[in-house]
Amino acid sequence: MCGIAGYIGHRQAYPIIINGLKRLEYRGYDSAGIVVNDGRQFGLKKTKGKVSDLEAKCKDLPSAHVGMGHTRWATHGVPSDRNSHPHLSNNEKIALIHNGIIENYDSIKKVLISKGFDFKSDTDTEVLVNLIQFFQDSENLNLTDAVRYALNETIGAYAIAVMDADDPQEIVVARLSSPLAIGIGDNEYFIASDASPFVEFTKEAVYLEDGEMATISLHGGVDIHKIKDNAKVSLVIQELKLNLEEIEKGGYDHFMLKEIHEQSQSILNTMRGRLLVDEGIIQMAGIWDFQEKFFNAKRIIIVSCGTSWHAALIGEYLIEDLARIPVEVEYSSEFRYRNPIIGEKDIVIAISQSGETADTLAALRLAKEKGAFIYGICNVVDSSIARLTDAGSYTHAGPEIGVASTKAFTAQLTILTLIALKLAKHKGTLSKERFNTLIAELETIPSKVEALIKNVEEPVKKIAENYAGVNNFLYLGRGLNYPIALEGALKLKEISYIHAEGYPAAEMKHGPIALIDENMPVVVIATKKGHYDKIVSNIQEIKSRKGKIIAIVTEGDVQVKEMADYVIEIPETSSYLVPILSVIPLQLLAYYIAILRGSNVDQPRNLAKSVTVE
Ligand code: F6R
Repeated sequence: MCGIAGYIGHRQAYPIIINGLKRLEYRGYDSAGIVVNDGRQFGLKKTKGKVSDLEAKCKDLPSAHVGMGHTRWATHGVPSDRNSHPHLSNNEKIALIHNGIIENYDSIKKVLISKGFDFKSDTDTEVLVNLIQFFQDSENLNLTDAVRYALNETIGAYAIAVMDADDPQEIVVARLSSPLAIGIGDNEYFIASDASPFVEFTKEAVYLEDGEMATISLHGGVDIHKIKDNAKVSLVIQELKLNLEEIEKGGYDHFMLKEIHEQSQSILNTMRGRLLVDEGIIQMAGIWDFQEKFFNAKRIIIVSCGTSWHAALIGEYLIEDLARIPVEVEYSSEFRYRNPIIGEKDIVIAISQSGETADTLAALRLAKEKGAFIYGICNVVDSSIARLTDAGSYTHAGPEIGVASTKAFTAQLTILTLIALKLAKHKGTLSKERFNTLIAELETIPSKVEALIKNVEEPVKKIAENYAGVNNFLYLGRGLNYPIALEGALKLKEISYIHAEGYPAAEMKHGPIALIDENMPVVVIATKKGHYDKIVSNIQEIKSRKGKIIAIVTEGDVQVKEMADYVIEIPETSSYLVPILSVIPLQLLAYYIAILRGSNVDQPRNLAKSVTVE
């Protein structure tokens, strides 16, 4: 939710910031803005729309070596020029960009209005910049102190960057619950919501922790203090593992298509160093070091949102079936607000691609407070969730930039399979022979994914051509394929804006069957290892009501082929591994339908990649 990027150093600030904003656009694309300081005054441009719209407005921006920019996902105030960031204080001396929400903005605004301030936007952010001016004026403070005073009056979440028109030598940043990275170059500094804007300039970064702020200047470097009591914090520099190719499109039209195609490699990366088939072991320190906790756990609760929640549902099936440990899956947003019963014998696992999802982070904090052991499955290294948890496993899918999650999902399924198999082996709920057979099969998945994409992409395009014009879609699956039905429906609705529902196939007759007529396409995941006979009966029920069947079947299937309007074959594999394959044609179907409908698949309307607000 909102991306921020800034620069101070010896280079031209504008190109670095504008390219940085393009890389951060996945975080929000309702509006964009930039401010630079040429040593005499601010040059500010902002606009409703995308970073490319901003770029078109920046031709006459003055040359400067310090500046900062913002790409917005609207919370308070509609997307518009005037609600775009940066926001200026009333005296036009302070500029501020913000990712997050100031929850008590209304009461602060009333006080400021009573003191003569006026407001040009509907945002919570403009309140904060004026509060900083208020403290600067009334207490005669420098920028850093005024920012600290103001933040101590606010409730909410933020990553902010602030500049003073009278001091072109520094930028002040702060964070609470929204990420902020500082890239450290050779007498130059970069700030950003993640490291992607500065990866080609430096491999060294500092990640601010919650409740910290930093003054960044050419003469003083990076000076970090606690917001609450101004206590000095020492600098911990980390080495970035990110590289440039990973965050570029590499010849594909869209990041989403690139990321779908990357899945054989990303799954391999998830398994690398962990799946050692020749030695008959799965190596995962996060599980091994705490296996007693897992074996003695009263239950595992998995919290997550969206696509990660679908992965969690599959995790529940896998861990319960293989390791016989009770698992519950909850939406993070429900869990955190429903006063759940959690104790020291519970393990709470968070699954999150970004590692920044506000609800999942809050659910974990609650679980930690109540004494549970908390475990993270994140894709983004050093993300807030990864840093909060007691232990965890990174998915190593590489940066996922398309807003619709694809390769992160299959990496999450791979990690969950590894965890379930490892727990089952050591707990003794799976024989050595069966374990060895399953890990040998898991090792073949990357090549099966590669073959699958090659074989199905053209047939899926044909199906997309036939159904791009419809308004509704139904997705059905059973067992491990039920969460895949949910995921297929989510992918379609978020990027094509077609209404789509996923259901467990047997639930059809309890309501959704009323929707079936000759205009309703129904995607049925009918693989051989997923309650095949039952799903065949469900297909017959749909056929009798003239519904159109698009079936995902196992290679060589005969029975469903005779009934379905279209079939897409996936390679044969173990039932535990089917979801990693069966989701792929559904990702491609959503992608090609969305393309035919003219959607912006990488940046679908109203969405953002990293949901750092509730
Ligand atoms: C859907 C999608 C979202 C995310 C959800 C959770 O394609 O990407 O539903 O899965 O916002 O995000 P993370 O996994 O970052 O916590």
